[in-house]
Amino acid sequence: MKRTCFNTDLTLDNVGQEVDLIGWVSKKRDLGSISFIDLRDRSGIIQVISEDTSSLPEIRNEYVISVHGKVRAKDKANPNLKTGNIEVVASEIKVINTANTTPLIIADNTDALEDTRLKYRYLDLRRPCMQHFLDIRHQIKLITHKYLSELRFVEVETPILCLSTPEGARDYLVPSRVHNGSFYALPQSPQIYKQLLMIGGMERYYQIARCFRDEDLRADRQPDFTQIDIETSFLDQDQFLTMMEGLIQKIFKETINYDVKLPLRRLPYLEAMDKYGSDKPDTRFEIYINDVKDILGELEVNGFNKAEAIRAIVVPGVASKTSRKVIDELSLEAKKFSLPYILYIKKENGLLSGSLTKNIDESKINELVNKLNVSEGDVVILAFGNKNRVLPLLGSFRLRYGKELGLIKPNTYDLLWVVDFPLFEKTDTGYTSSHHPFTRPNDESLPYLKEDPSKVLSYAYDIVINGYEAGGGSLRIYDQKIQHQIFEILGLSEEDIKRKFGFFIDAFQYGTPPHAGMAFGLDRLTMILGGTDNIRDVIAFPKNLSAVEPMSGCPSPVDNDQLDELGIRLK
Ligand code: AMO
Repeated sequence: MKRTCFNTDLTLDNVGQEVDLIGWVSKKRDLGSISFIDLRDRSGIIQVISEDTSSLPEIRNEYVISVHGKVRAKDKANPNLKTGNIEVVASEIKVINTANTTPLIIADNTDALEDTRLKYRYLDLRRPCMQHFLDIRHQIKLITHKYLSELRFVEVETPILCLSTPEGARDYLVPSRVHNGSFYALPQSPQIYKQLLMIGGMERYYQIARCFRDEDLRADRQPDFTQIDIETSFLDQDQFLTMMEGLIQKIFKETINYDVKLPLRRLPYLEAMDKYGSDKPDTRFEIYINDVKDILGELEVNGFNKAEAIRAIVVPGVASKTSRKVIDELSLEAKKFSLPYILYIKKENGLLSGSLTKNIDESKINELVNKLNVSEGDVVILAFGNKNRVLPLLGSFRLRYGKELGLIKPNTYDLLWVVDFPLFEKTDTGYTSSHHPFTRPNDESLPYLKEDPSKVLSYAYDIVINGYEAGGGSLRIYDQKIQHQIFEILGLSEEDIKRKFGFFIDAFQYGTPPHAGMAFGLDRLTMILGGTDNIRDVIAFPKNLSAVEPMSGCPSPVDNDQLDELGIRLK
């Protein structure tokens, strides 16, 4: 195999040179005695010309060919190709391998269904945009290795077959053949191991770590995904976040040449929920949630006087498009959040109308629209009831309108930290950890551990980029007394603690350094930098939304013999 360079290494500087290229036929056009071939390799496409078709072997799309020829400048450049101002005049073309007609078009614009793309992923991966995503992914890893190694981090691999880790999703279990009836869990993250590495004196650990979580899949979630997982000793929250910001800044600069301004702003969780109705707000457009309880809270109409929260957003310029049907749709959304309906006001031709104006004094309505700065053409959408439902509902509306109205400029990025998350989430039966049980409560919150755990805030932080949770972490508890208190609040008995975390708790008795860490979602970072909103685009062989990998067909049944060995009988 002879190859002098990749296709897109060639420029006008190479005009006149003899080259050997190799790749796939992306397209072939015959014009009488001349043939034009778009030759594609991993770097991109170059036009090859054969001026003597009589000696040309049969060539079809996706055949693998080698070309020997001379580089020449084109009379008329093709602006769509990186190599658009040159072409290679072939003196010899050899077919290295033939190809059947492919079930999908190998080009960035393909009309193939995603399941077809996943079934023939090896062909889908030939599309230049897919190779670009994998390249960005690789760049992120390289930059990470370099940045962290220079700061004296060491990459350590932690087990894949391990004890169940406490990230809150369902585990993937692996039955043990040697110990029938016992199971390994695949790690939801290396959380426990990385903390043990801190106790083990490593001080600065990282790992490009595979993680496994059996949860419902979404556009930004996969059952197996990859984290840039990090843990450090002896840094406070500020020092640690500053270090992580440096990494993110480098990644943005060196992958897409985008300058991230540091320091990133830090938005307390409660403020994020109040203003954006989300703990991962897309902050690139200006629709905010407003508290209007001060104006409406005492009215009996609609049961406002009994509502915990009355909040509204103002959507600019949609009055004429907001039909009864749209309002019904919004109310249907409200039902999904267990709220009965939404109310609205439209301002059209200077007049206010809509369900919210009914049975309420005009003066009140005027006070409301003044407070909300409602302009001609605007629509006010109001939700009321339980705060934990009202805020996310309005948060979802703001996002929907932000996208629908094109309020988000393309190729813009907004990065921030969301900090001070509540330590616990209340459930019907008690409390669960919002993050994981080793998250350290804020010093100021410690009294609430006894009084009212729902008020305890924590040293936990997420990095949010364009409305994605791109990473998250926390300072960890290193005080055993507090750790026990937390376990108690979580309703774990001494026996549970021993069984689940015994070895871990033991380890804390031997001089545990204060430590902190986080994990970036590598797949999500790649999505954001690659400009796709589908996580499956940035993973070579992903699962579809039903957790199936359509190419190999896994998961699949196994032989009874295999089950026998594992001591398993199917129900
Ligand atoms: P957390 O659970 O927040 O924290 O995960 C960290 C980051 O990993 C990404 N992520 C996912 N990406 C794709 N598919 C998934 N199913 C998925 N789940 C999570 C997100 C998320 O922000 N051990 C802690 C970190 C720490 O405390 O140090 C952890 O795993 O981008």
